[in-house]
Order: sequence, then structure tokens, then C-alpha cells
Amino acid sequence: MADLIELSEKLSAIRQEIKNEIAGIENSKAVYEYRKSIMDSKTGKIGSLMREMGKIPNEMKAEYGKKVNEIKVWAQEQFDELDTKLKEAEMRLRYETEKIDITLPAKMRPKGNLHPNTQVRNQIVDIFGSMGFQIYEGNEIETDYYNFTALNTPDDHPARDMQDTFYLSPEFLLRTQTSAGQIHVMEAQKPPIKIISPGKVFRSDDDATHSPMFSQMEGLVVDKGITLCDLQGMLNVFVQKIFGEDTRTRLRPSYFPFTEPSVEVDVSCFQCHGAGCKLCKGTGWIEVLGAGVVNKKVLEGCGIDSNEYSGIAFGIGIERIAMLKYGINNIKLLFESDLRVLDQIDD
Ligand code: DAH
Repeated sequence: MADLIELSEKLSAIRQEIKNEIAGIENSKAVYEYRKSIMDSKTGKIGSLMREMGKIPNEMKAEYGKKVNEIKVWAQEQFDELDTKLKEAEMRLRYETEKIDITLPAKMRPKGNLHPNTQVRNQIVDIFGSMGFQIYEGNEIETDYYNFTALNTPDDHPARDMQDTFYLSPEFLLRTQTSAGQIHVMEAQKPPIKIISPGKVFRSDDDATHSPMFSQMEGLVVDKGITLCDLQGMLNVFVQKIFGEDTRTRLRPSYFPFTEPSVEVDVSCFQCHGAGCKLCKGTGWIEVLGAGVVNKKVLEGCGIDSNEYSGIAFGIGIERIAMLKYGINNIKLLFESDLRVLDQIDD
């Protein structure tokens, strides 16, 4: 480098060139690339200036270094300034283009729900579970003994005609009632006993309110001093939680071979509150389940001393409760899997 004047001119030319170049730069990536090319220590217009220091006479070295440094700092400032400006603009553009319109209705995902039968079963399980009942899962295939004989319904008993049975063989059948589970529990367990037993039952029966397969929830309590009052107290809690706080129960005499006395339990109509409507056929009451005090013969048959212990039992039809609760007039709707019906019931 001949002299400092020449250097100054060269640096001015570089400044001008940088100014011209950056005026045409439109994005931060190009700034980065251009900065790299200018500052490259071998090929860059500014970066390479320091390499030339060796060729500079000693007395000029200090001034040369100073000037080179000045242009370096200046160029960095230019690049930084432009880089900040362009990055801001790019960010703004991104915000604009990627903006989420929160006023747009969300895409609805179809939500599944449990089958009404399952909902009702779970509700009943929760209610009795909170009263300390345990769950016993019985067998769908039973012997004649557990389904009938042990429940005080021997072969020639007229009560067998109350239920049309699917026999698999003279000994085995599809259980017609979850009551069969009572016997298994009482054979296996000593009192105190407090169980519910939900499950499918089968009968040769088919009309708007009956299906060959349906579900029941059996309940059984055996302990010292258990009476019909305990039964009504428990069932009051049950119906109030299922049908509403102001629901009351009414016990009517009935007959089941395995209970004595036996009762039919009615609830006050939760639709008309007793005034009389279509649901309660104008009576103000709706029959919901069968129950009673466990027949002493049944206790004794399971090896439980009926002088020491007494029991209460009840059998709830789950579909019946679901139909009443959700206003379903045909039991088939609960077995046809029509989503237009099932979607409406999400309790
Ligand atoms: N098993 C009876 C039925 O299917 C219902 C029933 C009535 C169950 C009285 C009981 C009971 O436990 O005590 O019709």
C-alpha cells in the first residue's frame, strides 16, 4: 500500500460499495451471507485487509490498523442495523400470516359416551358402593340348583313358571336372575355380607318392555338384626340419588320364593310428582324393583343360622331404570345400537 491516501480512497470505495449493496438487500438471510463474504479473512473485502498488514511499512502500520478497524466497526454497525430492521419486518410478517383466528368456530370432534345401560349400572354401583356394598360378579351359565332350587324354587314349584328359562341341558341353564349369585356368596362367605351383583340375565320373553337378554343388579345384606326397615331405608337413598331428592318409596306385598315377606317397591312418580301422568299411568307411583327379607330356608340351605342372622335382598332391572329415567318407551332401543338414540343420553 503506497500511502495512507490510497488506503483512504480504497476504504471509501469499500464503504460506498457496501452502502450500495445493502440498499438492495431484502431479507436477513441475505444480510448474513453478504456480511460473511465481506468479513471473510481470506476473500472478504474488509476481512482480508488485516492480512495485508505485512506489506505495510512499519511507520504506517498503526494508522493502517486504526483505519481498518474503523471500517470494520462501521460495517458491523451497518449489518447489525439492517439485520435488526429486516428481522423485525420478517417477524411481523410471520405474525400476520400465522395469526390464529380465534373467532372461528372450532372443529368439533365427535365425543363418545357410555351406553345408557352402562351409565345406569355405574350410577347404581356408585350409590351402593358408597353405602359399603362390594361387587360380586356371578356366572351367566348357572346350574338349575343355583338359579332355582337353592332359591327355594324346587323342580315342581309353580314359581318356576314366572320365568321362561333357556335350558342348555337338564342341569345347566342361562341364569334367569342374578339372584343365583346370592347363593354362591352365602356359601362362600360368613355374615356380615353386603354385596351387589350386576350382570346379564336371560329369559324367553320378547315384547316392547321385555328382551330375551337384559341386565339386573342383585343386592344382598345378611347380618344380625337386619329388617325390612333397613331395606326401605337403603332403597330410599337409592331412588333419591337415581330419580331425584323428593322421590319416595312404597312397599307393596308380593311373592318371590326366596324372600318372606316379599315386596314390590314403587317410587313416587318423578315426572308428575304424584299428580298422575302417562308414565305412572295416572297412579302417581311406578314399580321399580322386587325385594324382601331373605327366606329362612334360603339362609339355612347356605349354612347360615337363621336364628342368629337375617337378610334382605333386592333385584333391580337395569334397563327398566334406564327406560324410566331417560323416557325410553321400547327396550329394543337399548339393544339396537342406534347412535341417534344413544347419543342423546349422556348423564
Ligand atoms: N330375581 C327376581 C326377578 O328376577 C327379582 C328379585 C326379587 C330379586 C326379590 C331379589 C328379591 O333379590 O329379593 O324377578
